[in-house]
Amino acid sequence: MSVILEARSVSKSFGAVTAADNINVRIESDSVIGLIGSNGAGKTTFLNMVTGYLKPTSGCICFDGRDITRLGPRLITRLGICRSFQIPQLFDTLSVRDNLLVGIGIVVSAEKRWKQAATISSAPAEAVERMIKRFDLQPYRDMLAGTLPEGVRKLLDIAMAMIVQPRILLLDEPTSGVSAEEKFALMDLVMEAVRKQRVTVLFVEHDMEIVTRYTHRVLAFSEGRIIADDEPEAALNDPEVRKYIIGETLHVKRVSDHAAT
Ligand SMILES: Nc1ncnc2c1ncn2[C@@H]1O[C@H](COP(=O)(O)OP(=O)(O)OP(=O)(O)O)[C@@H](O)[C@H]1O
Ligand SMILES: [Mg+2]
Repeated sequence: MSVILEARSVSKSFGAVTAADNINVRIESDSVIGLIGSNGAGKTTFLNMVTGYLKPTSGCICFDGRDITRLGPRLITRLGICRSFQIPQLFDTLSVRDNLLVGIGIVVSAEKRWKQAATISSAPAEAVERMIKRFDLQPYRDMLAGTLPEGVRKLLDIAMAMIVQPRILLLDEPTSGVSAEEKFALMDLVMEAVRKQRVTVLFVEHDMEIVTRYTHRVLAFSEGRIIADDEPEAALNDPEVRKYIIGETLHVKRVSDHAAT
C-alpha cells in the first residue's frame, strides 16, 4: 500500500505548551487510523495541522508526496483532505439537504465553476441525494439542522465532509455525545461510506470499543508525543498507553460524555 500522508518531525508550541513534539508518522492509503490520548494530549492539534488550520512550529506534512505544510485550509480541502469537527459545524437554520448543498458550494466557489471541480464527478443535486441515502438521512431530509438529534447532527457533519469526495477524512470524536445504542450504527454507516468511496480515515476517539472495532491501527498521543503506533490490540495493551491513556482520565471523560446525553 502507498503512503498517502506523512508527518516528518512535526512540532507545535503554544507559548510554554508543547502540543506536538516531534511527530513522525506515515499513513497508508485506504487505512482506518484511530487517534487516542487523554484530554490535551495533542490529537486535535495534529488534525488542525494536517488540515492547515494551524501551522507547525517546525517539521513538515506531505500529502500524496506533496508538501502541504504551509498551504491554507481551503486549498488543502480542494486537494482532498476533509474533516468533521468535535462539535458539528452545521447551518442550523438550513435543512439537511441545503447543508449538504452548502458543503459542495464551498468547493465549487473555490473552483469558480462546477465543471472545474476535479473532485466531484456529478451534478450537485445528485450528489446530495446520494449522500442522503448513504447516510440514512432520508427521514430528516427537509428538517432544519438545528432541530436534529445529536447523532444525526454528527452524521450530517460527516456527510458534508464526504460529499466532496475526499481522499482523506479526518473525524474529531465522531461518537462523542451520541448514545451507547446509536454509536455502532453511526460508525457502521460512516465506515460503509468510507469503503464505498475508498477514503483513508483518521479519527480521534475516546471510546476504546469503537477504536477496537473499527481501526486498523492506533496512534496514541501523550503530551504531544506519539507513545504507541501499532495495531489496535497491541497499542491498547502497551504499558505506557495503559498507564497514561486508558486510565482514569479516559474513563471519567467517557462517563461524563454519556451523562451529557
Ligand atoms: N489555539 C491554542 N492556543 C493555545 N493552546 C492551545 C491551542 N490549541 C491547543 N492548545 C493546547 O495544546 C494542548 C493540546 O490540545 P489539543 O486540543 O490538541 O488536545 P486534544 O488531545 O485534542 O484534547 P481533547 O481530548 O480534550 O480534545 C493543550 O494543552 C491545549 O490547551
Ligand atoms: Mg480534541
